[in-house]
Amino acid sequence: MSESTPIPATAHKSPALHGAVRVPGDKSISHRALILASQALGKTRIRGLLTGEDVIHTANALRALGVDIEQYGDEWVVEGLGIGGLQAPSHTLDMGNAGTGARLIMGLLAAYPFSARLTGDASLQSRPMSRVMTPLRLMGAQFDATENERLPITTHGSSQLKAITYTLPMASAQVKSAILLSALNTSGTTRVIEPEASRDHTERMLRFFDIPISHTHKDGAHVWSLEGRPAQSPKDREIIVPADPSSAAFPLVAALLVEGSEITLTDVCLNPLRTGLFKTLLEMGAHIDIRNQREVGGEPVGDIHARYSPLRPVDVPAERAPSMIDEYPILAMAAAMANGRSTMHGLGELRVKESNRLNAIIDGLHACGVDAYEEGDNLVIQGRATPPEGGATVRCHHDHRIAMSFLVLGLASKAPISVDDTRAIATSFPHFIETMEHIGAAIHAKQDRPIGTRSLVIAVDGPAASGKGTLARRLADHFNMAYLDTGSLYRAVAMRLVYANKDPDDVPAAIAAAHAIQDHDLANPKLRSERIGNVASKISAITEVREALLEYQRSFAKRPGGAVLDGRDIGTVICPDADYKFFITASIDARTTRRHKQLNEMGFAVAYDAVKEDLLSRDARDAKRDVAPLKPAEDALQIDTTEHSANEVFNMVLAHISENM
Ligand code: S3P
Repeated sequence: MSESTPIPATAHKSPALHGAVRVPGDKSISHRALILASQALGKTRIRGLLTGEDVIHTANALRALGVDIEQYGDEWVVEGLGIGGLQAPSHTLDMGNAGTGARLIMGLLAAYPFSARLTGDASLQSRPMSRVMTPLRLMGAQFDATENERLPITTHGSSQLKAITYTLPMASAQVKSAILLSALNTSGTTRVIEPEASRDHTERMLRFFDIPISHTHKDGAHVWSLEGRPAQSPKDREIIVPADPSSAAFPLVAALLVEGSEITLTDVCLNPLRTGLFKTLLEMGAHIDIRNQREVGGEPVGDIHARYSPLRPVDVPAERAPSMIDEYPILAMAAAMANGRSTMHGLGELRVKESNRLNAIIDGLHACGVDAYEEGDNLVIQGRATPPEGGATVRCHHDHRIAMSFLVLGLASKAPISVDDTRAIATSFPHFIETMEHIGAAIHAKQDRPIGTRSLVIAVDGPAASGKGTLARRLADHFNMAYLDTGSLYRAVAMRLVYANKDPDDVPAAIAAAHAIQDHDLANPKLRSERIGNVASKISAITEVREALLEYQRSFAKRPGGAVLDGRDIGTVICPDADYKFFITASIDARTTRRHKQLNEMGFAVAYDAVKEDLLSRDARDAKRDVAPLKPAEDALQIDTTEHSANEVFNMVLAHISENM
């Protein structure tokens, strides 16, 4: 989490919730899509990927292992290196809060003959890792870990691992997946025996990538067998990540608890190993129905329609836990509103999630006036049939699901419920508060920063197609800072002009368009076309247009957590006080090649020569214009990217930042 100060939020009693939402992409599938695409031969385009912090950490770890991963709007493109193709990283892999990312990458790296150090945030450093190291050690991998087998850990992998048959001592998709990933690059047949089925996204996706994996039953257990080092042939693929049922759970339960509500959650992954919560809520009398069922990329998907429902208490058997392991916090909120006592069995595993969730749920419910306690590994909640008192601030222990759960309860409680810190929500559900607001929920984050603290600003300037945008976006992802491509502001003004059939030389119309720009103008994918780029280049030479957009950019730079801005005059005019300034250039041929490739990939068919001519004329205009001509700030670090890959440039910039902290 980039923010150094907690961001509390408060949920107020809400009017009825209405509308349709698509919650972000499934976290489990997103991690696996990136990881398996890196092991494929060929390019994989992924749409709907969760851009939460956990998945970004996995993407950055893969980049550090030599994988080229680029983002174009909603589409991510991974250049697969094939099984065995990763390279040793030059720095520690920071997995942030991502337990799944850390454990899966440890499995992957076990079968690579180099060492890599992994670390994570305080919550991840407290989570047990021996569950993955034990089977991987049996295969022959070595690990340097702290005494209690927690992160930071250095993996010492080997290309000579031996295939094993391993029976999981606990239901864990992460452990199963870590073994299967190491098996990919291990000769022989590796078998994983699961006494209880856990989510099978890895197995489904292996098949999607044409890697055979067989499934049989033995004594009631599931046996997965994978023949290592399968033959691979180059193939481009496309994955669509469905919406995350574990994230859908929050607006879903909110609709059940808030009187008069009726909402639809679209494109939700309905893998039967993930739907334990829906089953449980149906047993509680919830009005939920599934519509439009279909299959997307090997996963069942559907739309969930839910409306307000008075709930009955429920008894959830321990066997159901693997199919709803992340949903107990939000189920606990539903149980608090049911008319009687609910018991959830076999929840010992909740003590080692992002926080000790059993404690966090019980303490939070007590603070809100609800009776709850643990009995061994069971959680008992005394539902009150009426809204809880609320009026409390709940401690979330940096746990995203605890924060979201209590904010949902606050929508139905008598007095508002606050949570002490919402920063962790970004790990799995970016824009949670905005999504809830969209359906009518009253949740407010308090973003005030203490006087005296100032957010970091990084300025990245350079000519068109120099690689500044790719770099700036990666920096923003890496440091979890807000990102503004200021070129898109000028493009958005151009777009308004073009749509209004105005001439690019119509100065008053351009100024009026600049004053009218709103956030949503920047999301239009058509902004990237060369035609719009050309008009943008013209109108960006108009002083009043630049002035009209100045305030927008300066206030963007003050966002909590800091901001990365890229453009032509960030370091010189917009943010002359930026903490770090970079000026990125490349030869005209390198820039033409990159822009030509990018435009064609985005479906704009343009000739190489036309792109080159266009860039040259824009360079000339940018350099000659009277107002804010393109030139490096005196204190900017200049980088010529002609001979360097995006990864190398990113690493140079990171090194510069860490040397000058
Ligand atoms: C996950 C598996 C579960 C779950 C986690 C995601 C996965 O963990 O809690 O959020 O993607 O494999 P365990 O495998 O430890 O049960």
